[in-house]
Amino acid sequence: MIIDQVGVVGGGLMGTGIARVCALAGADVVICEADAARAESARARTESSLRRAVAAGKIADADCAGALSRLRFTASLEDLADRELVVEAIVEDERAKADLFAALDKVVSAPTAVLASNTSSISITKIAAATTRPERVVGLHFFNPVPALRLVELIPTLHTAAETADRIERFAAEDLGKLVIRSQDRAGFVVNALLTPYLLSAVRMLEAGFASAEDIDRGMVEGCAHPIGPLSLADFVGLDILLAASTSMYEEFRDPGFAPPPLLLRMVESGFLGEKTGRGFFSYSR
Ligand code: NAI
Repeated sequence: MIIDQVGVVGGGLMGTGIARVCALAGADVVICEADAARAESARARTESSLRRAVAAGKIADADCAGALSRLRFTASLEDLADRELVVEAIVEDERAKADLFAALDKVVSAPTAVLASNTSSISITKIAAATTRPERVVGLHFFNPVPALRLVELIPTLHTAAETADRIERFAAEDLGKLVIRSQDRAGFVVNALLTPYLLSAVRMLEAGFASAEDIDRGMVEGCAHPIGPLSLADFVGLDILLAASTSMYEEFRDPGFAPPPLLLRMVESGFLGEKTGRGFFSYSR
């Protein structure tokens, strides 16, 4: 393998998915959570997701057993000392990520070790500035659900060494079997910078009474062969997440296409966050 000693910090939705994919690829993976109870919860969720994949016929029993034997869960950052790559997937908070990268910089000691962030919207350059090794820091942005979606965005900064970016690209492509695209360090990177104005346009269309929510979604599903309409997709992503992403892109680009429309703000203020709260542009039984 290009890299077979991986660390993941944050064992939530994305961190457990990233750890699962790395362990199935044959890497030895240590997942670090904030405390012992969360580490145990991450272990239980990772194990049950692997067992569900076996039950669904997506992976073989032996591969599941192999992956489980390569996964370790901890609440101690020191357990990441010997990692060649650490992928951060903690809360989307600039201060928290900067503090974590400063701590990782002290702990992760291999001379070629790389620190990566899975952030969706925080500047990789700012995160890298918390370390003494910005030449070995990249963005590595996976998509949810990580085992199902092939795409990974690789984000080198102006500081990132070419060999660091090339090595992480080969790891993602050759070891993990992902499809890698590169983006400059810009809010939203490639995919979210294109997707967000589209989702916001659908919200504006609904807000203006241009068409019903059902017809807006049907239009894109039936007329453009999209697997899901924009308002359903916004509900799936979470309206709070869409609001945070569009706000950070609007701050970066000052392009009105990224400005969150009042309807989105009112829905988030009302607690209607999409699928996860049972109500967004559509209703969901929970
Ligand atoms: P999540 O809330 O499911 O998981 C975050 C985890 O990090 C929690 O389990 C929390 O206990 C842990 N954590 C927080 N601080 C920690 C620390 N200092 N040390 C160790 N663990 C810590 O969040 P999710 O959805 O997995 O997102 C994680 C990151 O991935 C965020 O930066 C997010 O923007 C990004 N992302 C999320 C996507 C999504 O669809 N949810 C897609 C792509 C990127």
